[in-house]
Amino acid sequence: MSKAYPWRAIAITGASSGLGRALAEEAAAAGVTLHLSGRDAARLAAAAAACRARGAEVRETVLDVTNAIATAAWIRGAGRLDLVIANAGISGGTGGATEPAGQVQAIFATNVGGVLNTALPAIECMSAQPPGAGGIRGRVAVVASLAAFVAAPGAPAYCASKSAVQRWAEALDATERARGIRLHAVCPGYVRTPMTARNSFPMPFLMDADEAARRTLRGLAAGRLRVAYPLPLYWMARLAGALPPAWRNALFTRLPAKDVTQPGA
Ligand SMILES: NC(=O)c1ccc[n+]([C@@H]2O[C@H](COP(=O)([O-])OP(=O)(O)OC[C@H]3O[C@@H](n4cnc5c(N)ncnc54)[C@H](OP(=O)(O)O)[C@@H]3O)[C@@H](O)[C@H]2O)c1
Repeated sequence: MSKAYPWRAIAITGASSGLGRALAEEAAAAGVTLHLSGRDAARLAAAAAACRARGAEVRETVLDVTNAIATAAWIRGAGRLDLVIANAGISGGTGGATEPAGQVQAIFATNVGGVLNTALPAIECMSAQPPGAGGIRGRVAVVASLAAFVAAPGAPAYCASKSAVQRWAEALDATERARGIRLHAVCPGYVRTPMTARNSFPMPFLMDADEAARRTLRGLAAGRLRVAYPLPLYWMARLAGALPPAWRNALFTRLPAKDVTQPGA
């Protein structure tokens, strides 16, 4: 078992890149089985090899989380899971104009639909697992974002999708913990990954993916319902989110918008 973390079996979506790969590497240790998924087979294999080099047993599966049947089969076929991290996601903004309809659909299908396709079968499977330490049968973490707290005009679908999964996980934890299943909302600020590499605007408190992974797994191990970081940006996001909406829009439309990333989606 990992010295640092208490989980023996962990499933992570979007493990082929960025934060998902960093989470996998941070959790990788002798005695830990990692079930890793992503769409890009070559990058997924590279992530799996890095985790094996750290002593973990790794089973990798090429998977699109928008495919509900395949994602449920992956979760159900894994055996006991102590922690499932629904991390796979895409981003995109307006580029200062109308956000393309296909991008809006793709963002919701991946960031909301994909999270539900992962989390719902995970909860179902965990409910049948015997409880472990502290009476916990399993934990499901959804990777939201600090964008969950601000309806930013530059990224309407992204912010709304992250808000949806953050609120869903936090609310659901209240009832699921009664039967030994915990849900967690992970809300990172800016993390240095391929997703943010294309951003041309300033990203305050930008942090490396391995630091974000450490903060995430430590927060989950501590049982925190909301794992939000870095703290200064979290409070800035909460304050901006609390502004009257018309003021917030007036303020945020002066800032550069995120680019369109899925023009033909
Ligand atoms: N970077 C940040 O600043 C930041 C901040 C807050 C929250 N987040 C969230 O953190 C998560 C990871 O993002 P990242 O920054 O690590 O981005 P990334 O480097 O672009 O990685 C995204 C991952 O999601 C996977 N993915 C995307 N669509 C998928 C689909 N339909 N089915 C299966 N896998 C899919 C990708 O797989 P393939 O590459 O194999 O297609 C990739 O492994 C996302 O949910 C993101 O919204 C990121």
